[in-house]
Amino acid sequence: MTAIRLAVVVASVRPERVGEAVARWFCAQVGEGFDIDVVDLATLVLPDALDGGGDTDVLAKRIDVADAIVLVTPEYNRGYPGVLKTAIDSLTTPWHAKPVGFVAYGGVSGGLRAVEQLRPVLAELHAVTLQATVSLPYAWDLPVVDGAVVPTRGAAAVRELARQLTWWGSVLRDARPYDP
Ligand SMILES: Cc1cc2nc3c(=O)[nH]c(=O)nc-3n(C[C@H](O)[C@H](O)[C@H](O)COP(=O)(O)O)c2cc1C
Repeated sequence: MTAIRLAVVVASVRPERVGEAVARWFCAQVGEGFDIDVVDLATLVLPDALDGGGDTDVLAKRIDVADAIVLVTPEYNRGYPGVLKTAIDSLTTPWHAKPVGFVAYGGVSGGLRAVEQLRPVLAELHAVTLQATVSLPYAWDLPVVDGAVVPTRGAAAVRELARQLTWWGSVLRDARPYDP
């Protein structure tokens, strides 16, 4: 099977963020069968005006070519980062009929409250959010080796997410041309 083109969106942009190390861990764990593009929102300029300026076209192209998307998101005040909402709202059709998985992290909830807020947002964009979710509680306490966090748990959740990304990614890739 052709590799699933997977966009891994890093949704925190703070200078001291853990998000980059979480994304690096996920990319190392997810295994073969994926052609990964790490879409780091810290490297893109996305206008709050949603006027298509800045790097909106760059983001649109990278999400458009993806067969599947993983949002690596922290929890901020029981929600998800504002920059992620701007990224989501900046595009329309590139999200359509795309499977979206979550690698969430945060404090006690492991980012799951952010994920639950993202599901209805993505449903509005005709994306399919995946049941499998990777969740890392107390992410700031995790050791970091070679730029990647080293959690004691999470490998099984990544395997299940990878399985669902592969199934939905290939099914929707085949289906999209029939009703663009
Ligand atoms: C503004 C802000 C709000 C936060 N709110 C929550 C929260 O509501 N629940 C939680 O579990 N963690 C919360 N945290 C902790 C973050 O989830 C945690 O620090 C995480 O590592 C942040 O991701 P980042 O380092 O990639 O930015 C908050 C952190 C920040 C900076």
